[in-house]
Amino acid sequence: MLKNENYSKQVLTGLIITLVLLASFSFMFLAETIRLEETTVEHNKHSLGHGRALYVENCTSCHGTRGEGIVGPALNDKILLEAASDGVLFASIQTGRPNTTMPAWGQAYGGALTDEDIHAIVDFIRAFEENAPEVHADEFTPSAARGASIFASACFTCHGEDGLGGIENAEGIEVAPAINDAAALKKNDNAWYQQVIVNGLPATGMPIWGETLSDNQVQDLMALIDAWRAGEDVAPEATVAQMLGSAHFSLEQGDGDNAIFYMNRAQPIAFGPLLSDFDSISTDIEAGKNAAALTALTELRDAWPQGDPVVGETLYQETCSGCHGSEGQGGVGKKMQPSEFVQESTNAEVFAFTLEGRDGTAMQGYSGILTEEQLADIIAFLRIWQE
Ligand code: HEC
Ligand code: HEC
Ligand code: HEC
Repeated sequence: MLKNENYSKQVLTGLIITLVLLASFSFMFLAETIRLEETTVEHNKHSLGHGRALYVENCTSCHGTRGEGIVGPALNDKILLEAASDGVLFASIQTGRPNTTMPAWGQAYGGALTDEDIHAIVDFIRAFEENAPEVHADEFTPSAARGASIFASACFTCHGEDGLGGIENAEGIEVAPAINDAAALKKNDNAWYQQVIVNGLPATGMPIWGETLSDNQVQDLMALIDAWRAGEDVAPEATVAQMLGSAHFSLEQGDGDNAIFYMNRAQPIAFGPLLSDFDSISTDIEAGKNAAALTALTELRDAWPQGDPVVGETLYQETCSGCHGSEGQGGVGKKMQPSEFVQESTNAEVFAFTLEGRDGTAMQGYSGILTEEQLADIIAFLRIWQE
C-alpha cells in the first residue's frame, strides 16, 4: 500500500495552492462611466517636470515607473506612441477606459486632473518616444516551473508527485498512470497531451480540464511535459509562505517527515531576519519534539514574511501609491495610514491578500508581478504606518 493516508493531506495542500493559483488568474474591473468628447490639444514643453510629478503620483502603480506597464499596458512603447496622436493620448487619460481599471482622470469626468495637468502628462509620455522599445502586448512565455505548480495542485493527487504515478486507492490499485514516463513521452506528441488534458477521458476518471485551466495554464503544462521529455527535474514554483503552511498542516497531523520535506524546500528560498528559525524548528522535528516545533512553526508561519521597510517604501510608492495614496490617504484604493485591515491581520494574511487581490475590485493580485520578498518589504513599510 502506497502512502494512502498521505493522499488526503496532499489533496488539501493541493487545494490551498489551487485557490491561490486560480485567484491569480482572475481579472478585476473598475467600472467607469464615460462620455467621449472632442479635445483640444496644445503643447506646453515647459510642463515636463509637472507632467513627471503627476505621472509618478497617479500612473506608476499601473503603468510602471518607466512606463513599462504593470496592470495597465506599457506606455513606453514605440508602436503605441507612433500610432497615437497627442489628442488620442489626451482623450484616453481624460475619459479613462470603461470596464477596465483605467480610471477617468479629467475633471469633466469626475477625475482629479485639469486639462493643463493632462497636457503636461501627455508631454511627459511623449518624451519616452525617442528611445522607446517596441512592446508586443500579451506575449506569454510558457514556464515549466509554473506548469509544475499547476501539476502539484491539480494533477499529482492522481498522477503522483513529479508525475511519477504510484498513487493507489484503498484496494491497492494505482488510480492513474505516470505521466512523467520516458516511453509514453516519446510515443505521444504535445498535441495529444493537450487534447487529453483539455478534453479529459471522462469514462476512465481523467477529468476534463479545458474549462478549469486557462489556455496559458495548459501551455505551462505543455512546457512541463517538454521538460520531462528532456529528462529534466522541475521544481514547482511555490512561495515560502505556501510551504510553511504545508509544513504546519503536516506537523499538526503528526506527520514530521512531510513537515521536514516542506521545511527543506522552503529554507533555500527563504530570506530575512526569520531565516534562523528554520534550522531550530527542523532540529526539533527531527528530535521528535513535535509540540515545541509546532508552537514555533505557528509563530513563524504567522510572522512570515518579514521584509525591509526602507526598500518597502520605495516599492510602495512605485506600485501601490497610485491607488492607496503616497501618504496612505487612500484614493481608488482604501486608506493605508492607518488601516484596520493591516492592524488586524498577521503578515501571512496581508501577504496572502496582496498575492491574491480581491475579486471584482481594482485590487488585483500581485502574484507573478512582485516577488515574495518585495511584498514582504512593502508589508514591513505598511506596519510603520500603523504604529
Ligand atoms: C488603476 C490602474 C490604472 C491607473 C492608475 C492608470 N491607468 Fe492607464 N490604463 C490602465 C489600463 C488597465 C489600461 C488599458 C485599458 C484597456 O484595456 O483599454 C490603461 C490605458 C491607458 C492608456 C491607453 C493606452 C493604449 O494602449 O491605448 C493611456 C494613455 C493611459 N492608460 C495613461 C494613463 C495615465 C497618464 C495615468 C495616470 C494619470 C494612468 N493611465 C493611470 C490602468 C490604469
Ligand atoms: C481524479 C484523478 C485524476 C486527476 C486529478 C488527473 N488525472 Fe489525468 N488521468 C486520470 C486517469 C484515471 C487517467 C487514465 C485514463 C486511462 O485509463 O486511459 C488519466 C490519464 C491522463 C493522461 C494520459 C496518460 C496516458 O499515458 O495515457 C494525461 C496526459 C493526464 N491524465 C494528464 C493529467 C493532468 C495534466 C492533470 C492535471 C491538470 C490530470 N491528469 C489530473 C486521472 C486523473
Ligand atoms: C489599481 C489600484 C490599486 C493598486 C495599484 C493597489 N491597490 Fe490595494 N486596494 C485597491 C482597492 C480598490 C481596494 C479595496 C478593495 C475593496 O473594495 O474591497 C484595495 C485594498 C487593499 C487592501 C485591503 C484594505 C482593506 O481595508 O480591506 C490592502 C492591504 C491593499 N489593498 C494593499 C495593497 C498593496 C500592498 C498594494 C501594492 C503592492 C496595492 N494594494 C495596490 C486598489 C489598489
